[in-house]
Formats: sequence, C-alpha cells, structure tokens
Amino acid sequence: MHSVFFLSSILATAAAASPPAELFSPIVPQKVLATFKALPNPIKYPQYTTTGGIWQYFSPNTWTSGFFPVTGYALNTRKSLCGATSANNLGIADWLALGRAASNGLIPLEISNGVGHDVGFLSFPFVEELVVNPNNQTAKTAVNAFAKLLAGRFNPVVGATRSWGDNPDVDFQVIIDNMMNLEVLFHSSALTGNKTLENIAIAHADTTIKNHIRADGSTWHVVEYNATSGAVIRKRTAQGFSDSSTWSRGQAWGIYGFANMYRFTGNMNYLVTARRLAKYFLDNLPSDGIVPWDYNAPLIPAPRPADSSAATIAATGLLMLSKYETTSAASKTYSDAAINLLNSITKLSWNRPGWQSILSNGTVNKPANNQLTGTAYGDYYFIKAGNDLISQNLATCL
Ligand SMILES: *[C@@H]1O[C@H](CO)[C@@H](O)[C@H](O)[C@H]1NC(C)=O
Ligand SMILES: *[C@@H]1O[C@H](CO)[C@@H](O)[C@H](O)[C@H]1NC(C)=O
Ligand SMILES: *[C@@H]1O[C@H](CO)[C@@H](O)[C@H](O)[C@H]1NC(C)=O
Ligand SMILES: *[C@@H]1O[C@H](CO)[C@@H](O)[C@H](O)[C@H]1NC(C)=O
Repeated sequence: MHSVFFLSSILATAAAASPPAELFSPIVPQKVLATFKALPNPIKYPQYTTTGGIWQYFSPNTWTSGFFPVTGYALNTRKSLCGATSANNLGIADWLALGRAASNGLIPLEISNGVGHDVGFLSFPFVEELVVNPNNQTAKTAVNAFAKLLAGRFNPVVGATRSWGDNPDVDFQVIIDNMMNLEVLFHSSALTGNKTLENIAIAHADTTIKNHIRADGSTWHVVEYNATSGAVIRKRTAQGFSDSSTWSRGQAWGIYGFANMYRFTGNMNYLVTARRLAKYFLDNLPSDGIVPWDYNAPLIPAPRPADSSAATIAATGLLMLSKYETTSAASKTYSDAAINLLNSITKLSWNRPGWQSILSNGTVNKPANNQLTGTAYGDYYFIKAGNDLISQNLATCL
C-alpha cells in the first residue's frame, strides 16, 4: 500500500510539471489530416462540432475561417521542429501543401467580407506563409489587404478600431477579442513601411487598457463608445454570463493580445497588462484547474461548462509571457501555469470516442446555447501550444 501511495504521489507531482503527452500524440496529425480530406468543395471551413463531435462547416466569410488552414502550417512547423517518425505521424501528409491549398479560399475575402475586425484572424495562414516563404506575393498581398481593411475601421477620436456596429457614426463597439486582430497591422507595417498601421494598433491597445480592464485585472467583453466624442457609453457582455462577469475566452484573447503587443513594441506597459490579465485568469481558476466558460457563471447546475478553447488560447499567451519574462522564476511561473492548464483541459476533453475534433468541452456561445463542442480555434491553439513548448525547450518531440 505504502509503495502504491508513494508512486501515485510522485506521478501527481510529475504530472504538474510536465506537459501532457497527448500534445504530441500521433492522433493529432491523424485527425487534422482526416479533416483536410473532408473539406467540402467549394471550400467551407470547420468552426465547431456538434455535441456529438462532428465538424460543422461554414462559408469562408466567417471569422474562424483562417484557423483550419493555419493548423496545416502549424503541423508543418511541428514537422520541421520534430522531424517525421513512424511514431509521431508527422510524415502522413504534406502539411504545407494542405495549408496553402486551404488558404486559397480566403483570398476573395481581401476584396469584400462580412467579418469586420476579424480580418486579423483571416490573415494568420498568410502570416505563416511569409515565415516559410518571405517572398510569396500572394501572402504579402493578403496581409496588406486585411491590414488595410482593419485600419479602415479606426476612429481617431475613440482611439480604436471598430469591432461591431452597423453604423460607424453612432454605433461603435469594441470587444476584447479585437486585441488578437492587431498583429496583422504590424506585419503590414513591416512589409510596406507604413507606420500609420502600427500606430493604429498601439492606439487601440492603449484605449483597451484604459476602458476594458477592471481594477482586479478582469475584463469586460464589450465597450460601447460614442463615435463622435469618444466617450464610453456602456460596458457590457455579449457572450459572457453578465455585464459584470469575466468571459474566459475574452480574458484569454487579452492575455495573448497584450503579450503579443509587447512582442511587437517592446513597451513594458503591454507586458505589465498581460501579467495583470494572466494573474486574474490563474488566481480565479477553480481547484480542478479547468477553465470555466465564464469566471462568474454559476456552479449549479453542475457541471458548469468548461471552455477548452479559452484554456489553450491562454496557455499560448502564458507561454509567450514566459518567453519574454527576464527572470527565470517569473518565466517558470508562466510556463508551469500554461502546462497546468494544458494538463487539466487534456484530461477533461481529449479525443472523445467518435469525435472529429482533437478536444471537446469548447463553449462557442453559451447565451446562444452553443456549448460542449470541439472548436477549430481550440484545436489550433492546442497544436500551437505544443510547438511553443518545443521551441522554448519545455517539451521534447515524440
Ligand atoms: C503562396 O501562398 C499561397 C497562399 O498563401 C499559396 O497558395 C501559394 O501556393 C504560395 N506560392 C508559393 C510559390 O509558395
Ligand atoms: C498608410 O496606411 C493608412 C491606413 O490604411 C492609409 O490611410 C495611408 O494612406 C497609408 N499611407 C501610405 C503612404 O500608403
Ligand atoms: C455623442 O456625443 C455627441 C457629442 O458630444 C452628443 O451630441 C451625442 O448626443 C452623443 N450620443 C450619444 C448616443 O451619447
Ligand atoms: C465535458 O464534455 C463532456 C462531453 O460533452 C460532458 O459530458 C461534460 O459534462 C463536460 N464537462 C465540462 C466541465 O464541461
């Protein structure tokens, strides 16, 4: 008995410190390839699954359309980091070719689309293409076009790009998610030399710091502005539990978004802000470490739905923080926290029998009763987290 107890406590300790092996499982490439093979023609993209784990496909003109193509690029990156072995399944496809082919369906959106500020998300596969091939003109054109569309949503009186609102003169709403779309402005600025683009990103981030973050480091989902005066009219939620609650995916986008602002600017204020958001996210986790869909959502009826995507997005944001922290103690705090999040969510939601997505337990939109799903973005950030852990020497390839 004693030795069994001893062994299980060692395993419990080890589990907290090391990333889940599932991150590098051969099931990951296998599932992604199956989804690539099942893409409809003309192309539509998986966004979330049914509660039975079957992918639902959406027209390219959807905010999530970039996530599956960029998943192909992420497995191409994994293959360059790890090499292909029979154990890791990374050799079963030409991930770059698959990612490229799937990206082509996004190109018509450069001319016209209905995704608003989410053009930043659409740019992700093209940004990755430029890492592989910095001279790819198709990818440069896409990055510049999406950046221009986002810049066109900037209102200098508000100091932000508009996320939502039909009439920009009277209806100017900014959501915390918009922090994720700023990256495309930096890439286009670097490609074109147009500094206005990065100044727009900086203004948006600064306005978000001023109005979206509560004193305890939690965030509002939506801030409504008066487009004429720039005054804040209202702070509220759209996808969260209440106007005063903290929607966990929004908080996760914020951690990643501000760490990313630091990456592009070196401005300490963004690092400090990312730390504040991370502190709220980690300090308020329940004891099982599973990220709830909203931090203030009631526990009853149990189980309160989790959001696996908030967990994997936050994990990549924390890994970025870990990379930029200058003391090894701070760096380890964030990488351990990221690893703990990944362990908890993997234990809950990994590879449910019959599911096409890698993870389950995603909450797409709880007020719209869309939960207990897989999500294309949750799976993408799960794979990205694995890549980041390897790149940062926090995990080894299978
Ligand atoms: C350039 O990128 C696009 C998608 O971003 C891809 O379809 C195309 O194959 C790439 N071209 C080359 C020559 O690599
Ligand atoms: C730089 O980008 C901004 C925002 O898209 C645009 O208004 C401006 O004309 C651009 N400047 C140049 C020199 O192209
Ligand atoms: C917005 O601000 C303008 C100028 O201060 C004011 O005239 C207008 O009534 C405000 N609109 C709303 C909806 O608060
Ligand atoms: C996780 O997903 C399973 C399958 O959909 C569900 O039965 C379970 O209640 C979920 N747990 C949480 C905490 O969301």
